[in-house]
Amino acid sequence: MLKGKHIILGITGGIAAYKSVSLLRLFVKSGAEVQVVITPAGKEFITPVTLSALSGKPVISEFFTANTGQWNSHVDIGLWADAMVIAPATASTIAKMAHGVADNMLVTTYLSAKAPVFIAPAMDLDMMAHPTTTRNLRQLRADGVRIIEPEEGELASHLVGKGRMAEPQEIHDTLLEFFNRRKSPLKGRKLLITAGPTYEKIDPVRFIGNYSSGKMGYAIADEAARRGMEVTLVSGPVAVSPEEAGVNVIKVESAREMLAACEKAFPTSDVAIMCAAVADYAPAHRSDRKIKREHDEVPVIELVKNPDIAATLGGAKHPGQRLVGFALETDNERSNAIEKLKRKNLDMIVLNSMNTPGAGFGVDTNDVTIILPDGTSTTSGCLPKKEVAAIILDSIESSYAG
Ligand code: C5P
Repeated sequence: MLKGKHIILGITGGIAAYKSVSLLRLFVKSGAEVQVVITPAGKEFITPVTLSALSGKPVISEFFTANTGQWNSHVDIGLWADAMVIAPATASTIAKMAHGVADNMLVTTYLSAKAPVFIAPAMDLDMMAHPTTTRNLRQLRADGVRIIEPEEGELASHLVGKGRMAEPQEIHDTLLEFFNRRKSPLKGRKLLITAGPTYEKIDPVRFIGNYSSGKMGYAIADEAARRGMEVTLVSGPVAVSPEEAGVNVIKVESAREMLAACEKAFPTSDVAIMCAAVADYAPAHRSDRKIKREHDEVPVIELVKNPDIAATLGGAKHPGQRLVGFALETDNERSNAIEKLKRKNLDMIVLNSMNTPGAGFGVDTNDVTIILPDGTSTTSGCLPKKEVAAIILDSIESSYAG
């Protein structure tokens, strides 16, 4: 329930504004107090009368109320709110928010709001895919705005693509989840997480690496930050970046560099999640010059064992710290994972099966089994990595509750 929560519902001039009525009803039914702020263009799509009747409050649109001359204080509304939701958020409002163009009451309120801000973009597919929109959304994300992604489907233009506003129920549930998570036992705790592959240099242009994309680790880092954790993400070379502004990324390349960064951060961490696909071996000698192709000779690269970061931290772990590892197995999956959990002194191991379609390296989904030292386990089923991240953090949360 959203009982007693103060929500600003911002409505802008898009066809999807008709769905804002249902969203308003859902918020009110959940017990929230809602103040609607609508842009002048928004009023072309939906009348303030409907909105004020449902919210039980006058709708705010202008800086001054025309007949009384009363000033509507964007500062007061901004401070009153526990959350601000802009649904639909048009390309124009998104652009104004990204650049601080405060030429209407809604964007002015956004600039004054101290509370978390959510936006549910809605626009035609070409506008959505335009580099300008992508750039503006990236900027808003970096500013800490939470984006409730639009869906694919038929649009008002009858074209089919990404740009349909998320359904009111989904927007409502996102807020509900957000408020519930603010009570998370993880809030204020420190997380150290590794992600991505490691690159072990052979010479200045070649390395030994693997196909890890870093997506799973970055999804966990983002979800942990959303739950209020202080996140240090030690990342190998990847193409992804965190969505949450608060994630502190330390970029490393080799397993040794990753170990050094982890050993520095671990003593003050409450939770450490070893999600990186660390190379097991590194070349014994790194050539300072590019190794030349000789005509007849095939070079032999001697390898040495890399340090096991998870096991090293497992050995240094003090009571109260939680250490979580991953296992990517092809056979005897469960028994191998349990053996690793014990050998590395872990508190939880997340088993990815290489045999499950849609799970593992590179893809956006995963299917994991979370195993605890007492042998109990839960399986996620094949889900987007973001949702798997939430399930993994739920399990860590339970360890604090129990
Ligand atoms: O032994 P294996 O590589 O299968 O173990 C996987 C787990 O150990 C993962 O959590 C991985 O991040 C971690 N690991 C590590 N350092 C290594 C190898 C694996 O931290 N050198």
